[in-house]
Amino acid sequence: MAPLMISTDLADRVRAARRSWLVTGAAGFIGSHLVEQLLLLDQTVIALDDFSTGHQSNLNEVREAVGSERWSRMNFLEATIVDPAACAKACVGVDFVLHQAALGSVPRSIENPVATHAANATGFLNMLAAARDAQVRRFVYAASSSTYGDSPALPKLEDVIGRPLSPYAVTKYLNELYADVFSRCYATQSIGLRYFNVFGARQDPDGAYAAVIPRWVQQMLTASGCTINGDGETSRDFCFIANVVQANLRAALVEDARAINQVYNVACGERTTLNELHAMIRAALLELRPGLRVAPPVYAAFRAGDVRHSLASIEKAGTLLGYQATHSVRDGMSQAMGWYLQRAARTPNAATRPELS
Ligand SMILES: NC(=O)c1ccc[n+]([C@@H]2O[C@H](COP(=O)([O-])OP(=O)(O)OC[C@H]3O[C@@H](n4cnc5c(N)ncnc54)[C@H](O)[C@@H]3O)[C@@H](O)[C@H]2O)c1
Repeated sequence: MAPLMISTDLADRVRAARRSWLVTGAAGFIGSHLVEQLLLLDQTVIALDDFSTGHQSNLNEVREAVGSERWSRMNFLEATIVDPAACAKACVGVDFVLHQAALGSVPRSIENPVATHAANATGFLNMLAAARDAQVRRFVYAASSSTYGDSPALPKLEDVIGRPLSPYAVTKYLNELYADVFSRCYATQSIGLRYFNVFGARQDPDGAYAAVIPRWVQQMLTASGCTINGDGETSRDFCFIANVVQANLRAALVEDARAINQVYNVACGERTTLNELHAMIRAALLELRPGLRVAPPVYAAFRAGDVRHSLASIEKAGTLLGYQATHSVRDGMSQAMGWYLQRAARTPNAATRPELS
């Protein structure tokens, strides 16, 4: 059985009662980890996904990690949240919703804002309404650091946001507005978690919209040079998946009334430049593959719309949710690297070419 990603005190609080959790986006990167942890904690899980960017292989890995008995407490619905009837069906008898389903990626939303809006805005509203109608206890949802938009303020404090820089950011901010207005109109309980650059096992390295860490790992494994947009001194607050799982569970269970109907930054509170990130990934890979030849990075023009620096204040989540980042970027990186190597071994065309020595 896979080890738990969260502290024993939090695990005990979840285990204290068997509840029913709906995880949307369950075949995706973050959703599959939530499903895995909940099953490991003997919870009942309804998992929903339409496989638009998620993979059956992620669910297969969860099944392997939790074993067949726990797996049997999971009910999977292949459906889209754009369909209100599917959302209503998924919410029946549910205590907590952990809503992750969305089309990620800023560039994808710039290329196809209509598709992003359908999943992220219409789909979100469908889920929120279905959760209200089913009298779900609490609706915890994936918000995004993209909501800070063009605000230059650092560190990012939840109340100080700028103008959105992409259709994706608009949809994620809209989620927060809808969740807030639902709480006032219908007395629903929700908590938004503004994730900052999450990474870890199962984050998809393939495709045009892959996030930077899996893309660079893949490129290093295939001996292609990684492209750094700009001078490499652009920085981000990278957050390992275990911290995100913790934040979701704390948000669902928190009882302090002041903590409910709020949004929180979920990050490490650590600033890593792209140059540092490149060196960190390289070092973590070399530990596992000492002979690997890694090409130096290639520097390209700054990408339009990219903010220069991003760093979260995680004080609010600490004070009201009891959240503490248990995994630094470096800890997370060494844990994630094993998965990327295993995946590369399973898909030889992708990442185990003869360039590896
Ligand atoms: N990964 C990050 O760094 C990050 C940062 C900020 C916010 N988020 C948010 O976290 C959530 C999860 O992201 P992820 O990184 O796991 O992405 P992911 O693409 O791996 O997972 C998203 C899942 O949602 C599913 N999905 C998409 N549209 C759907 C629809 N209409 N109906 C049903 N399922 C649908 C996809 O198939 C996929 O399995 C998203 O809401 C994303 O916007 C992620």
